Amino acid sequence: MSSTERPVTTTDAGIPVASDEHSLTVGPDGPLLLQDHYLIEQMANFNRERIPERQPHAKGGGAFGSFQVTADVSRWTRAAVFSPGEKTDVLIRFSTVAGERGSPDTWRDPRGFAVKFYTRDGNLDLVGNNTPVFFIRDPMKFQHFIRSQKRRQDNNLRDHDMQWDFWSLSPESAHQVTWLMGDRGIPRTWRHMNGYGSHTYLWINAAGERYWVKYHFITDQGIETFTQDEADQMAAVDTDYHQRDLYEHIRDSQFPSWTLKVQVMPFEDAKTYRFNPFDLTKVWPHGDYPLQEVGRLTLDRNITDYHTEIEQAAFEPNNVVPGTGLSPDKMLLARGFSYADAHRARLGVNYKQIPVNAAKVETHAYSKDGAMRMKNVADPVYAPNSYGGPAADPSRTDDGGTWSSDGEMVRSAATLHAEDDDFGQARTLVREVLDDAARDRLVTNIVGHLLNGVSEPILTRAFAYWRQVDADLGAKIEAGVRAKQDEKDPKKDEQGNPARSSMQSKA
Ligand code: NDP
Ligand code: HEM
Repeated sequence: MSSTERPVTTTDAGIPVASDEHSLTVGPDGPLLLQDHYLIEQMANFNRERIPERQPHAKGGGAFGSFQVTADVSRWTRAAVFSPGEKTDVLIRFSTVAGERGSPDTWRDPRGFAVKFYTRDGNLDLVGNNTPVFFIRDPMKFQHFIRSQKRRQDNNLRDHDMQWDFWSLSPESAHQVTWLMGDRGIPRTWRHMNGYGSHTYLWINAAGERYWVKYHFITDQGIETFTQDEADQMAAVDTDYHQRDLYEHIRDSQFPSWTLKVQVMPFEDAKTYRFNPFDLTKVWPHGDYPLQEVGRLTLDRNITDYHTEIEQAAFEPNNVVPGTGLSPDKMLLARGFSYADAHRARLGVNYKQIPVNAAKVETHAYSKDGAMRMKNVADPVYAPNSYGGPAADPSRTDDGGTWSSDGEMVRSAATLHAEDDDFGQARTLVREVLDDAARDRLVTNIVGHLLNGVSEPILTRAFAYWRQVDADLGAKIEAGVRAKQDEKDPKKDEQGNPARSSMQSKA
């Protein structure tokens, strides 16, 4: 654009301004004047540019695209978004969990894989990760878990001692920690990883029959990962490597895609299945419930404004559309509250009116007013009413799930299914999925992580934790740590632990 075609700078109110460079003063070196509204607007807006970052999953990036149904799954769900031939616009945001907004993309961490489907029945959000399981199975522990992965209170440092303290005291974390310390703990790019809904969700077909489902977005680019060394080098060279890779591939029309597959469990199987099907620390082995194709998700449009399209994007697992629902997974039910609450705190009560979060269908809600309300509200503003206002549809029984429940109020993690232990599936991963080379890398990664400031008695507890996954694995990890300790400090203390953690030195 030539300078003659340039638009004239205006204030936010559209008033042309006289200078982009000079503030209004009394004489060239004189005092500033309060009536220089434009200077004040520039300073004031700048001071308010930052909004709180997400508590977990602060660092991320994303893109737009579409989801095309390629198979007929109507025998399991009547959801329009999964009906034969349907194509739906989507937004996706990938993220790391523990790092702050500027942290390196290539740190070892699970990756968020959050998808918003703008369906003709309203927005469906699948807020998943690149792992099929999670560290804990009760939401009471989530806040504590995240704090243990972030920063210490005293010195503001990340601290492996508190990470392993939490994990080794939470044996249900073993499956996810095995996954995380393995090759897939550092994806090469966001394009080269799978996404999983992780939780069990509900599907309901047109006849009202119910099925439990797990969503799997299988990367069409193939799985590729970084070794710890490659990831460390990349963190030093390009903090934003994953964000850049996604942006550049879409810019160059190399559109990444994922095939959505589901595992489907008949409703009644849940009671007698060998694992608790609502336990987020467990997968359903493919041999029990094979993957069934649904469609293809393709990303083909880059964002043009990071703040309005990604930083202000609000995903919430409670956005379930007709034909889909939640399950009795306690973690999922807690998330149904937590995300909307986080958005109200971070973005304001009317966050669903921010264009990237707005449904692409008409909304007829009875929400009213509040900060930053953009959409006009028409009378009547109450229901029931005699004036033609929206009326709810009593046939909508699947909101949030249509399962039944009865029992005493308890705080419990009762194991009611035959194989509800903490270590079994981690053991299967180590013994049956990984090959010798992958098992060796797993040992190396865990040893390296433990040597980075983990103190006794947590270290010994960590060895016991790995022995319960697999005796040989545990023994190799202990031998690896002890050998390095001996190399560094032959005069180690009686616990075999030369390094004093920052927690210990405080005492
Ligand atoms: P299968 O042999 O049918 O599937 C094994 C799965 O493990 C495949 O999905 C494979 O992904 C994935 N995988 C391969 N390497 C790794 C790795 N380094 N880290 C994590 N996952 C990897 O076995 P089952 O379904 O019986 O499951 C066995 C174990 O596999 C489980 O205990 C679980 O730990 C893991 N797993 C299971 C999944 C499931 O939903 N059933 C999903 C992902 C992992 P790919 O096909 O891309 O090679
Ligand atoms: C982000 C809470 C478990 C995936 C968040 C945020 C909160 C939160 C408060 C920040 C939201 C925001 O400010 O926008 C919880 C709670 C959990 C839980 C309370 C358990 C009880 C999980 C699990 C997964 C997950 C199990 C994956 C299966 C994500 C993702 C994001 C996120 C992908 C980022 C979403 C985005 O890109 O905007 N979580 N979480 N969380 N969480 Fe969770």
